[in-house]
Amino acid sequence: MNPAMRVLVTGGAGFIGANFLNLLVPRHPEHEFINVDSLTYAGNLESLAKVQDSANYHFERVDITDADAVNAVFEKHRPDWVIHFAAESHVDRSIEGPKQFIRTNIEGTFNLLEAARHLWGENREGKVFHHVSTDEVYGSLGAEGFFTEETAYDPSSPYSAAKASSDHLVRAWHRTFGLPVKITNCSNNYGPLQFPEKLIPVMILNAQERKKLPIYGEGLNVRDWLYVTDHCEAIWTVIEKGKIGETYNIGGHNEKTNIEVVDALCTLVAEETGASADELLALKHFVKDRPGHDMRYAIDASKIERDCGWTPKETFETGMRKTVKWYLENTSWIENVRSGEYQKWIETNYSDRQ
Ligand code: NAD
Ligand code: DAU
Repeated sequence: MNPAMRVLVTGGAGFIGANFLNLLVPRHPEHEFINVDSLTYAGNLESLAKVQDSANYHFERVDITDADAVNAVFEKHRPDWVIHFAAESHVDRSIEGPKQFIRTNIEGTFNLLEAARHLWGENREGKVFHHVSTDEVYGSLGAEGFFTEETAYDPSSPYSAAKASSDHLVRAWHRTFGLPVKITNCSNNYGPLQFPEKLIPVMILNAQERKKLPIYGEGLNVRDWLYVTDHCEAIWTVIEKGKIGETYNIGGHNEKTNIEVVDALCTLVAEETGASADELLALKHFVKDRPGHDMRYAIDASKIERDCGWTPKETFETGMRKTVKWYLENTSWIENVRSGEYQKWIETNYSDRQ
């Protein structure tokens, strides 16, 4: 077991960060967890109701693009481990307005790297800066093959280009300054607490409300789906067992076309609500494609499996059923995130795709 650590988690009020804290805060009362989040539209303290009163959990509202505020929070809490989730994460929003992606994902990461470098100086023993990244940095695959840790970077969207830049900064801070970093690049996550702008929650909620199910292009794009807590466990495993300076790919061995995903969700929503599956399937609606839409992602996760002993626990079927049930049961969380700002986004993203 590791000695008691101060663990600074950025973006802990977002989808993956909140699932991570809900899992790890109760499991590790010996560690202090400090959640640093600016609470953008994607950040929601309601997602942390389970842990908010825990003695080993603290929240700091800090914008990572504000270098002084980042330095101050590092000075105050003096973290041993930094787990960096905070980002602008939605590809369609990066096409509508790329600037904030450059600020948060690149400048924000730079501020955190500098704060860690100055805090730790030469005392790097036991310290870790863990950067949470995406498989989208590798670009698009053809019909065959997998992304490995050696695949060349070839990002397509402003989001993935900004994440690729942040990965390069993290590696440069390791090579140049000796910062003890680790990087993970993960495939598409799904599960509870995901903001209803991403494919899975959009489809579940639209099906439940008998609204059209907007499928981009021909719906043949392939994603490799991973249940969110499997991603969280993988990150923790890399923090505990991964090597400094290394990159680990994380994936679910669950390649599906978007049409296959939507069909599966319609069937599950029908089973869970008693609706007719045919009625829900008839809501499928092909709309204008996303510009620069990557065709296929698939992860070779053999390095993390071999070196750290991680494997995903959920199958596509078990994970999707849990997710559908969660969205059907958590109506007040959903009502609260679907504020006026949310309605504006739905209008912006979908009105000119019809
Ligand atoms: P999310 O959009 O749900 O949450 C992002 C969180 O970061 C929010 O709590 C938000 O308030 C916070 N944040 C944004 N800008 C900030 C700023 N300037 N300062 C402080 N906090 C800020 O994102 P997510 O889906 O949970 O993704 C988390 C991380 O995992 C991201 O780095 C993303 O690139 C990466 N990732 C996501 C997936 C996926 O499928 N969602 C897959 C692989 C990697
Ligand atoms: O691969 C990891 C990435 O997965 C993460 O780095 C990103 O943060 C995360 O947002 C996700 O990116 P995607 O663009 O793959 O996810 P999204 O849910 O937006 O879309 C999944 C697929 O579904 C993609 O091919 C686009 C399509 N799509 C999406 C929406 C929102 C639709 O067909 N219709 C939709 O309404």
